[in-house]
Amino acid sequence: MRYMIDTANIEEIKDIIEFFPIEGVTTNPTLVSKEKMDFKTLVTGIRDVIGPDRVFFVQLRGDTAEEMIEEARALKKLIGDNYVAKIPMGRAGLKAVMTLSKEMPCCVTAICSRQQAMLAARAGASFVAPYVNRLDNIGAGGVEIACDIAGMLDHYGLPCEVVGASFKNVDQVQECAMGGCHVVTLKAEMFDMLAGHPLTDSGIAGFDKDWKAFYGENKILD
Ligand code: E4P
Repeated sequence: MRYMIDTANIEEIKDIIEFFPIEGVTTNPTLVSKEKMDFKTLVTGIRDVIGPDRVFFVQLRGDTAEEMIEEARALKKLIGDNYVAKIPMGRAGLKAVMTLSKEMPCCVTAICSRQQAMLAARAGASFVAPYVNRLDNIGAGGVEIACDIAGMLDHYGLPCEVVGASFKNVDQVQECAMGGCHVVTLKAEMFDMLAGHPLTDSGIAGFDKDWKAFYGENKILD
């Protein structure tokens, strides 16, 4: 399973990509609005920070397929290679994917059911983004839906990956990893939740104490 960060905050992105193996950045209209910045300045700023090799998912806003197609083409010009058009699930979104997927990778987002994902994959989406926590919150089994989608896409040999989204705890991420989700996109604070463990901290503190008891402040190759 691979990792992406779900934010539009440039400082968070800088911090997380320095310390964690991050394949790309995903955003949505809520996340970009929170930054209170000119949209073009924000997305080009994010591209500069993550470099040309990381994938960058930016969500479209159009109501019709035609509007979405126009937006995606303009965003691709602005952002360059490795732009992924993030497209809300629905009739217009599916229609847009059938055209855009011939020009750029598409991610169909706000996926809440297995059949939404199957339709998106058949339309040509390279990614589908099921909303794990939002489904878990209403007792609809978000983890199970995300894992079933991953299994279903693999079963039919469809060239479409699950980007599990909307996580709130480590168990959800781990269960998605065990269930075959290809990618997860996580809020910044979740990376330290995944990396940390009290036994790791106490183990490392013990090494430090034992080293200093004999070698003092000496570095390892002084
Ligand atoms: C990803 O595609 C979504 O934008 C995002 O993960 C939704 O997360 P939330 O449920 O925390 O808003």
